[in-house]
Amino acid sequence: MGPLFVTSPFLCYIFFLVLSAVPLFHVQAYAWLNAHATFYGANQDPTTLGGACGYDNTFHAGFGVNTAAVSTMLFRGGEACGACYQVMCDYRLDPKWCLGRRTVTVTATNFCPPNNHGGWCDPPHHHFDMSMPSFFRIARQGNEGIVPVLYRRVGCRRRGGVRFTLRGQGNFNMVMISNVGGSGDVKSVWIKGSKSGRWWPMHRNWGANWQSSMDLRYQNLSFKLTLSNANTLLFLNVVPSSWRFGQTFSSSNQFL
Ligand SMILES: *[C@@H]1O[C@H](CO)[C@@H](O)[C@H](O)[C@H]1NC(C)=O
Repeated sequence: MGPLFVTSPFLCYIFFLVLSAVPLFHVQAYAWLNAHATFYGANQDPTTLGGACGYDNTFHAGFGVNTAAVSTMLFRGGEACGACYQVMCDYRLDPKWCLGRRTVTVTATNFCPPNNHGGWCDPPHHHFDMSMPSFFRIARQGNEGIVPVLYRRVGCRRRGGVRFTLRGQGNFNMVMISNVGGSGDVKSVWIKGSKSGRWWPMHRNWGANWQSSMDLRYQNLSFKLTLSNANTLLFLNVVPSSWRFGQTFSSSNQFL
């Protein structure tokens, strides 16, 4: 009886350690996966690569120059918008054109459409069509324009808070959500007008644009966001009642 009494709390503690370590492992330790990378055309302006996610200017959306259009498998109908990936040139497979084992972190801001003829962006390929500055951080100039890479999901570091851009008209509200830290990719959004006083779910319209069809004019707006890693944050009264379509409001709140 005595020894059992002594050892069981210890066993419980071990079990606790094991159980608490498992979810952490799932959230934080993403595996390296194989993919290929190319770069956007030389004369494409990196400030206008918001494309299929709807960030009209990726600079203003807080993503800087390190952005990528990702293939169907990664884009997942827009769920990947805002997600961050650490990309490493696969030096083992391509020692000639890889700049050692250098890595670059890119944000998914666009979709690389399939050509349905076995192209690099067709399923089942994992592909990053990167901005030129990010591509040439990991690959030598003068290569054929494609290198094998390894990639993994990483957290996104953003300056300042989450931003809400109001689009739409009348009682058609579209809110473009940008500069999201944490896992970077928004999974669910709720909106609350100060007059209605309850949370309503929004639906992904396309990319980073979320919609609702309530009349939200002349009231403060609050948002509740859940990311793909299940972290949730409230943005209470982030939009004042004097808001107009076309305006962007920055919160002081940010995901870590
Ligand atoms: C609207 O938001 C402001 C702060 O931005 C707050 O002072 C005010 O009480 C809010 N109004 C309502 C009705 O919630």
